[in-house]
Amino acid sequence: MGIPRHVAIIMDGNGRWAKKRLLPRVAGHREGMKRMVSLSDHAFDAGVEYVTLYALSCENLFRPQAELDGLFELFRTYFTQNVEHLVQKNISLRVIGDLALLPSDIALLARKGEERTAGGTRGTLVLAVAYGGRQELLSAVNAAVRGGKELDEEGFRGLLSTAEFPDPDLLIRTGNEKRLSNFLLWQSAYTELYFSEKMFPAFTDADLDRALKDYAGRERRYGRI
Ligand code: FPP
Repeated sequence: MGIPRHVAIIMDGNGRWAKKRLLPRVAGHREGMKRMVSLSDHAFDAGVEYVTLYALSCENLFRPQAELDGLFELFRTYFTQNVEHLVQKNISLRVIGDLALLPSDIALLARKGEERTAGGTRGTLVLAVAYGGRQELLSAVNAAVRGGKELDEEGFRGLLSTAEFPDPDLLIRTGNEKRLSNFLLWQSAYTELYFSEKMFPAFTDADLDRALKDYAGRERRYGRI
C-alpha cells in the first residue's frame, strides 16, 4: 500500500497521561502539543502529504472553563511559536472548525497562520479546532438547501471544510479508545483505522512508524472485491 497520502490523528489521552503523573490536565495537553509538532514533522519527512489533527471538538467546548483556558493558551503558544517553523519546513497550515466559537484573538492567529504559510508546497497540516463532523455535515446540507438544487457526491464534498483535501487514508486514534468521536464522518468512509493503547503524549515517532507499517500491509478494496 505504501505511504498514506493523508493521515488523520485523534490525539486522545492527554488528561489520563497527566493524571497518572499527578499533574494537572493542562500539563498533559502541553506535552501533547510538543508531541504533535514532532509527530507531524516526522509524518511529512516520511512522505505523508496531509496531516489532520483533531485539536478540539465542538463537544470539548463544554469542558470546565479552567481546562479550556489552558487549551486556549496552548493554541496561542502554538500559533505564535510554530508558524515560522512551518514556513521553514515548507508546510502550509489550514484550520477547520467553527472558529467563531473560540476567543477572537485565537481565530485571528489561526487565519494569520494560514496566510503566512499559504506558499508551503511540501505538505498541508490541517488543524481541526472547534470541529465536529455532524456540525460540518449540517452546515453543508444547509448550504445545499440554500443552493436549491440536488447535488452528487462531488458537489456535496465541495461544500465541506475539507473540500480541498483528499480523504484520509489512515486514521490513528491514541488513548486506548475505539471510536470516531465526531471526527471527519463523511471523509473517513473508507479510511483505514488504527488504534493505539498509548496516551497521546507517549505516542512516539516510532509508534507512528509502526502505524504506517501496519497501513502498508493492508489491502484496501473500497467495498469491491
Ligand atoms: C484529548 O485528550 C485531547 C484534547 C481534547 C486536546 C488535544 C490538544 C493537544 C494535543 C494540544 C494542544 C493543541 C494545539 C493545536 C496547540 P483528553 O483530554 O480527552 O484525554 P483523556 O481522555 O485522557 O481525558
